[in-house]
Amino acid sequence: MTTVATVQWDPYDSGLAADPYPTYRRLREEAPLYYNEEHDFYALSRYSDCEQGLPDWDNYRSGRGMVLEIIKSGFEIPPGTLIMEDPPVHTIHRRLLVKVFTPRRIGALEPKVREFCARALDPYRGRDQFDLMEALGGELPMRVIGMLLGIPEADQASVRDHVGKSISIDDGSGMDVNNAALLSGDIYGDYIDWRRDHPGDDLMTELLHTEFEDENGVRRALTRDEVLGYVTILSGAGNETTGRLVGWIGSALAAHPDQRQELVDDPALIPNAVEEVLRYEPPSMVIARTVHRDAEWHGTTVPAGAALLFVVGSANRDDRRYPHADAFDIHREVGQHLTLGLGAHYCLGAALARLQGRIATQELLTRFPRWDVDWQNAKMAQTSTVRGWETLPLLIR
Ligand code: HEM
Repeated sequence: MTTVATVQWDPYDSGLAADPYPTYRRLREEAPLYYNEEHDFYALSRYSDCEQGLPDWDNYRSGRGMVLEIIKSGFEIPPGTLIMEDPPVHTIHRRLLVKVFTPRRIGALEPKVREFCARALDPYRGRDQFDLMEALGGELPMRVIGMLLGIPEADQASVRDHVGKSISIDDGSGMDVNNAALLSGDIYGDYIDWRRDHPGDDLMTELLHTEFEDENGVRRALTRDEVLGYVTILSGAGNETTGRLVGWIGSALAAHPDQRQELVDDPALIPNAVEEVLRYEPPSMVIARTVHRDAEWHGTTVPAGAALLFVVGSANRDDRRYPHADAFDIHREVGQHLTLGLGAHYCLGAALARLQGRIATQELLTRFPRWDVDWQNAKMAQTSTVRGWETLPLLIR
């Protein structure tokens, strides 16, 4: 079998953002290993292939980036950017973050997250419509990261805007890697300096003071640049993605009012419903790697040095893994979807993302048990890494 196929897929084509799933289906059926000549990358779109390749960090490396345009740019990855590192350094850095990013710390955020959702949604009680992204999706994740890091509330919105802007793309272009605050981290520098002198019960303080053994066997605290790297990656990885999740919850439940009613009647179903939204509409569709050694996929050799995309948005809709994968079903046994990755780089914020999805759904349904979407005025946002609603006007019933 060859990789020459009639199906074409351009991940930068914003025309596909509305519904990429028919194209993904064709990729899975007609070109399970796809090669795109224009942007020079390979792509795997079947669940079983992504499940096999993603955990294989040795053959599929993150060290040159996990976003296609970063890999292609040859951008020098700043130290501490663990999402773009490989073992053994990645293992050391990840272990350190796991040590401070504890279930206790995440669990402790629950009442604050609930209070924020209530404060954000209460003003819309009695209205007949509001934009879910403006009210909640665009605000919640950055507030939560701010709570986690100890960033003063007054400054959280400007930090969010800065990070958001750097990863938006226009049609046909990619991330401006030279200007990417996602990587530069300078926005947080002042807070780090301030926190050094004003320790608190927050993750930034812990990062500044935690000792660890580095790759040279030296026991030390993190450098300022390394702390910057961690903090920047946390906010870059956890902001837009979780915001889009909130939007997808709003649109998926509008499109399935019977299932929404079940959640109103039995809120214990909400966690699995959030899991199904994650599977059904992943905020991030692809995970990129660099091929370390020649690899054989579907009878074709993918050469060392090539960029390889794991299309997790397609894998989650693979009927071989999920019967009737295009159907949204809050009762489905979702199991291991690939929206949060798999293997060494599995999303460190998974529990925090789920917590926000669950609480946002609970607080939304408590106040507004029924809504439609004004589809005419809903607007899809596409960045090179994230897909979801920018505007989602809910019509309250
Ligand atoms: C729905 C929301 C989210 C989605 C869809 C998502 C998705 C992902 C994915 C796919 C990866 C793996 C990337 C790779 O393999 O190259 C990842 C890694 C990561 N995520 Fe998330 N994420 C979400 C929320 C969060 C949150 C809330 C945080 C923290 C505040 C976070 C922090 C991280 C970090 C630090 C990594 C890097 C882990 C490593 O490289 O070892 N994420 N995320």
